[in-house]
Amino acid sequence: MKHTQALVIGNWKLNPGTTAEAKLLYSQIRKKVSKNCLATVVIAPPFLFIPEIAKTIHPKIALGAQDMHYEERGAVTGEIGGGQLAAFGVQYVLIGHSERRALGETDTQVNKKVHAALKRKLTPVVCIGERTRDGQGQFYQDVATQIKALTTGLTAVQLQKVVIAYEPIWAIGTGLNATAENVKEMQLFIVSTLTKLFERKVAEKILLIYGGSVKDSNARELYTQGGMSGFLVGGASLEATEFAAIIHATELGN
Ligand code: PGA
Repeated sequence: MKHTQALVIGNWKLNPGTTAEAKLLYSQIRKKVSKNCLATVVIAPPFLFIPEIAKTIHPKIALGAQDMHYEERGAVTGEIGGGQLAAFGVQYVLIGHSERRALGETDTQVNKKVHAALKRKLTPVVCIGERTRDGQGQFYQDVATQIKALTTGLTAVQLQKVVIAYEPIWAIGTGLNATAENVKEMQLFIVSTLTKLFERKVAEKILLIYGGSVKDSNARELYTQGGMSGFLVGGASLEATEFAAIIHATELGN
Protein backbone atom coordinates (compact mmCIF):
# COMPACT_ATOMS: atom_id res chain seq x y z
CA MET A 1 0.00 0.00 0.00
CA LYS A 2 1.19 3.47 -0.78
CA HIS A 3 2.32 5.42 2.26
CA THR A 4 0.77 8.84 2.73
CA GLN A 5 4.17 10.38 3.35
CA ALA A 6 6.57 9.90 0.45
CA LEU A 7 10.27 9.21 0.92
CA VAL A 8 12.75 10.80 -1.51
CA ILE A 9 16.44 9.97 -1.11
CA GLY A 10 19.29 11.68 -2.92
CA ASN A 11 22.21 9.30 -3.42
CA TRP A 12 25.19 11.50 -4.24
CA LYS A 13 27.43 8.47 -4.91
CA LEU A 14 31.07 9.61 -5.36
CA ASN A 15 30.12 13.27 -5.80
CA PRO A 16 30.98 16.09 -5.50
CA GLY A 17 34.76 16.42 -5.37
CA THR A 18 35.32 18.78 -2.45
CA THR A 19 33.78 19.74 0.89
CA ALA A 20 33.11 23.25 -0.45
CA GLU A 21 31.13 21.83 -3.37
CA ALA A 22 29.24 19.46 -1.07
CA LYS A 23 28.30 22.34 1.24
CA LEU A 24 27.17 24.41 -1.72
CA LEU A 25 25.00 21.62 -3.16
CA TYR A 26 23.52 20.93 0.23
CA SER A 27 22.73 24.60 0.85
CA GLN A 28 21.05 24.85 -2.56
CA ILE A 29 18.87 21.84 -1.77
CA ARG A 30 18.22 23.17 1.71
CA LYS A 31 16.82 26.40 0.27
CA LYS A 32 14.44 24.52 -1.99
CA VAL A 33 12.96 22.20 0.61
CA SER A 34 10.26 24.06 2.47
CA LYS A 35 9.68 23.68 6.19
CA ASN A 36 6.23 22.37 5.31
CA CYS A 37 7.51 19.79 2.83
CA LEU A 38 5.15 16.81 2.85
CA ALA A 39 7.79 14.25 1.89
CA THR A 40 10.58 12.81 3.98
CA VAL A 41 13.75 13.91 2.25
CA VAL A 42 17.09 12.17 2.80
CA ILE A 43 20.51 13.13 1.49
CA ALA A 44 23.17 10.41 1.31
CA PRO A 45 26.51 12.12 0.65
CA PRO A 46 29.91 10.41 0.67
CA PHE A 47 30.95 9.53 4.25
CA LEU A 48 33.58 12.28 4.46
CA PHE A 49 31.02 15.05 3.96
CA ILE A 50 28.59 13.77 6.57
CA PRO A 51 30.07 15.64 9.60
CA GLU A 52 30.04 18.95 7.73
CA ILE A 53 26.48 18.55 6.44
CA ALA A 54 25.30 17.37 9.85
CA LYS A 55 26.23 20.79 11.26
CA THR A 56 23.49 22.56 9.31
CA ILE A 57 20.91 19.86 8.90
CA HIS A 58 17.46 21.10 7.90
CA PRO A 59 14.50 19.94 10.04
CA LYS A 60 12.97 18.27 6.98
CA ILE A 61 16.12 16.67 5.57
CA ALA A 62 17.49 13.55 7.21
CA LEU A 63 21.02 12.31 6.74
CA GLY A 64 21.75 9.04 5.04
CA ALA A 65 24.86 7.00 4.31
CA GLN A 66 25.55 5.03 1.16
CA ASP A 67 26.75 1.87 2.88
CA MET A 68 27.92 0.50 6.23
CA HIS A 69 29.69 -2.57 7.51
CA TYR A 70 27.93 -5.12 9.68
CA GLU A 71 30.79 -5.16 12.19
CA GLU A 72 30.79 -2.37 14.75
CA ARG A 73 34.57 -2.35 15.14
CA GLY A 74 37.63 -4.49 14.59
CA ALA A 75 39.92 -5.64 11.82
CA VAL A 76 37.90 -4.50 8.80
CA THR A 77 40.14 -2.01 7.04
CA GLY A 78 38.40 0.81 5.23
CA GLU A 79 34.96 0.16 6.65
CA ILE A 80 32.49 2.32 8.62
CA GLY A 81 30.15 0.86 11.24
CA GLY A 82 26.55 1.63 12.13
CA GLY A 83 27.50 3.04 15.54
CA GLN A 84 29.83 5.53 13.90
CA LEU A 85 27.12 6.64 11.48
CA ALA A 86 24.55 7.00 14.24
CA ALA A 87 27.01 9.14 16.24
CA PHE A 88 26.98 11.68 13.39
CA GLY A 89 23.21 11.85 13.24
CA VAL A 90 22.76 9.51 10.28
CA GLN A 91 19.26 8.02 10.23
CA TYR A 92 19.11 6.11 6.95
CA VAL A 93 21.59 3.80 5.28
CA LEU A 94 21.59 2.38 1.77
CA ILE A 95 22.34 -1.31 1.78
CA GLY A 96 23.07 -3.58 -1.18
CA HIS A 97 23.10 -0.88 -3.85
CA SER A 98 23.84 -2.58 -7.17
CA GLU A 99 27.10 -0.63 -7.41
CA ARG A 100 28.18 -2.28 -4.12
CA ARG A 101 26.90 -5.68 -5.24
CA ALA A 102 28.96 -5.24 -8.44
CA LEU A 103 32.03 -4.96 -6.21
CA GLY A 104 31.25 -8.34 -4.68
CA GLU A 105 28.67 -7.70 -1.96
CA THR A 106 26.58 -10.84 -1.46
CA ASP A 107 22.98 -11.39 -0.35
CA THR A 108 24.34 -12.81 2.92
CA GLN A 109 26.32 -9.65 3.61
CA VAL A 110 23.29 -7.52 2.73
CA ASN A 111 21.24 -9.43 5.30
CA LYS A 112 23.92 -9.00 7.99
CA LYS A 113 23.99 -5.26 7.28
CA VAL A 114 20.20 -5.02 7.61
CA HIS A 115 20.40 -6.61 11.05
CA ALA A 116 23.33 -4.40 12.07
CA ALA A 117 21.55 -1.23 10.90
CA LEU A 118 18.37 -2.08 12.81
CA LYS A 119 20.40 -2.75 15.93
CA ARG A 120 21.63 0.86 15.69
CA LYS A 121 18.13 2.19 14.92
CA LEU A 122 19.21 3.20 11.41
CA THR A 123 16.59 2.74 8.70
CA PRO A 124 17.98 0.29 6.16
CA VAL A 125 17.08 1.17 2.57
CA VAL A 126 17.77 -2.10 0.84
CA CYS A 127 18.28 -2.01 -2.91
CA ILE A 128 17.08 -4.86 -5.07
CA GLY A 129 16.52 -5.24 -8.79
CA GLU A 130 17.28 -7.34 -11.82
CA ARG A 131 20.25 -6.85 -14.13
CA THR A 132 18.22 -7.31 -17.30
CA ARG A 133 14.66 -8.28 -18.25
CA ASP A 134 13.92 -11.45 -20.18
CA GLY A 135 10.67 -11.96 -22.07
CA GLN A 136 9.57 -14.86 -19.84
CA GLY A 137 9.58 -12.91 -16.59
CA GLN A 138 12.42 -14.98 -15.12
CA PHE A 139 13.86 -11.77 -13.70
CA TYR A 140 11.11 -11.81 -11.08
CA GLN A 141 12.86 -14.82 -9.54
CA ASP A 142 16.07 -12.81 -9.14
CA VAL A 143 14.11 -10.19 -7.24
CA ALA A 144 12.37 -12.85 -5.10
CA THR A 145 15.76 -14.34 -4.18
CA GLN A 146 17.02 -10.93 -3.07
CA ILE A 147 13.87 -10.31 -0.99
CA LYS A 148 14.15 -13.69 0.71
CA ALA A 149 17.81 -13.09 1.50
CA LEU A 150 17.41 -9.58 2.83
CA THR A 151 14.55 -10.54 5.15
CA THR A 152 16.17 -13.67 6.59
CA GLY A 153 15.91 -13.72 10.37
CA LEU A 154 13.82 -10.56 10.62
CA THR A 155 10.71 -10.43 12.76
CA ALA A 156 7.58 -8.76 11.37
CA VAL A 157 8.24 -5.79 13.65
CA GLN A 158 11.78 -5.42 12.30
CA LEU A 159 10.64 -5.78 8.70
CA GLN A 160 8.32 -2.81 9.09
CA LYS A 161 11.36 -0.63 9.77
CA VAL A 162 12.98 -1.61 6.48
CA VAL A 163 12.59 0.35 3.25
CA ILE A 164 12.94 -1.58 -0.01
CA ALA A 165 14.23 0.32 -3.04
CA TYR A 166 13.44 -1.35 -6.34
CA GLU A 167 16.26 -0.32 -8.66
CA PRO A 168 16.49 -2.31 -11.88
CA ILE A 169 20.17 -2.21 -12.82
CA TRP A 170 19.39 -1.49 -16.46
CA ALA A 171 17.68 1.73 -15.41
CA ILE A 172 20.43 3.11 -13.16
CA GLY A 173 22.32 6.00 -14.68
CA THR A 174 21.20 5.06 -18.19
CA GLY A 175 18.39 7.56 -18.73
CA LEU A 176 16.11 4.56 -19.38
CA ASN A 177 13.72 4.51 -16.45
CA ALA A 178 11.35 1.62 -15.82
CA THR A 179 7.84 2.53 -16.95
CA ALA A 180 5.15 3.27 -14.39
CA GLU A 181 3.56 -0.04 -15.43
CA ASN A 182 6.85 -1.91 -14.80
CA VAL A 183 7.04 -0.28 -11.36
CA LYS A 184 3.42 -1.08 -10.53
CA GLU A 185 3.86 -4.75 -11.50
CA MET A 186 6.99 -4.96 -9.40
CA GLN A 187 5.26 -3.32 -6.43
CA LEU A 188 2.57 -6.03 -6.58
CA PHE A 189 5.22 -8.73 -6.97
CA ILE A 190 7.24 -7.50 -3.97
CA VAL A 191 4.12 -7.40 -1.79
CA SER A 192 3.12 -10.91 -2.87
CA THR A 193 6.65 -12.23 -2.22
CA LEU A 194 6.70 -10.63 1.23
CA THR A 195 3.22 -12.06 1.90
CA LYS A 196 4.61 -15.57 1.39
CA LEU A 197 7.31 -14.85 3.98
CA PHE A 198 5.24 -12.78 6.44
CA GLU A 199 1.55 -11.93 6.71
CA ARG A 200 -0.19 -9.84 4.04
CA LYS A 201 -0.98 -7.06 6.50
CA VAL A 202 2.72 -6.82 7.33
CA ALA A 203 3.78 -7.03 3.67
CA GLU A 204 1.44 -4.23 2.65
CA LYS A 205 2.93 -1.87 5.21
CA ILE A 206 6.49 -2.02 3.87
CA LEU A 207 7.63 1.23 2.34
CA LEU A 208 8.71 0.67 -1.27
CA ILE A 209 10.49 3.23 -3.40
CA TYR A 210 11.71 3.22 -6.99
CA GLY A 211 15.14 4.20 -8.31
CA GLY A 212 16.67 4.29 -11.77
CA SER A 213 16.89 7.42 -13.95
CA VAL A 214 14.22 9.30 -12.00
CA LYS A 215 13.98 12.87 -13.29
CA ASP A 216 11.70 15.86 -13.04
CA SER A 217 10.10 14.79 -16.33
CA ASN A 218 9.10 11.25 -15.25
CA ALA A 219 8.68 11.59 -11.47
CA ARG A 220 5.02 12.56 -11.45
CA GLU A 221 3.88 9.67 -13.64
CA LEU A 222 6.07 7.15 -11.83
CA TYR A 223 4.77 8.38 -8.49
CA THR A 224 1.06 8.46 -9.30
CA GLN A 225 0.95 5.27 -11.38
CA GLY A 226 3.86 3.19 -10.10
CA GLY A 227 2.24 2.36 -6.77
CA MET A 228 5.44 2.98 -4.80
CA SER A 229 5.94 5.57 -2.07
CA GLY A 230 8.89 7.59 -3.30
CA PHE A 231 12.24 7.57 -5.04
CA LEU A 232 15.91 6.84 -4.72
CA VAL A 233 17.55 9.42 -6.95
CA GLY A 234 21.14 9.34 -8.19
CA GLY A 235 22.21 11.73 -10.95
CA ALA A 236 19.25 14.09 -10.60
CA SER A 237 19.96 14.60 -6.88
CA LEU A 238 23.15 16.50 -7.80
CA GLU A 239 21.13 19.34 -9.24
CA ALA A 240 19.09 21.18 -6.59
CA THR A 241 16.30 22.42 -8.88
CA GLU A 242 15.80 19.01 -10.48
CA PHE A 243 15.87 17.22 -7.13
CA ALA A 244 13.38 19.70 -5.64
CA ALA A 245 11.05 19.14 -8.60
CA ILE A 246 11.15 15.37 -7.97
CA ILE A 247 10.29 15.95 -4.30
CA HIS A 248 7.49 18.25 -5.36
CA ALA A 249 6.08 15.59 -7.73
CA THR A 250 5.35 13.46 -4.65
CA GLU A 251 3.73 16.33 -2.78
CA LEU A 252 0.89 16.85 -5.19
CA GLY A 253 -0.90 13.77 -3.93
CA ASN A 254 -1.93 10.75 -5.93
P1 PGA B 1 20.22 7.29 -11.12
O1 PGA B 1 20.78 6.40 -9.91
O2 PGA B 1 19.07 8.11 -10.59
O3 PGA B 1 21.39 8.12 -11.55
O4 PGA B 1 19.78 6.33 -12.18
C1 PGA B 1 19.92 5.82 -8.97
C2 PGA B 1 20.73 5.06 -7.95
O5 PGA B 1 21.73 4.44 -8.32
O6 PGA B 1 20.40 5.06 -6.75
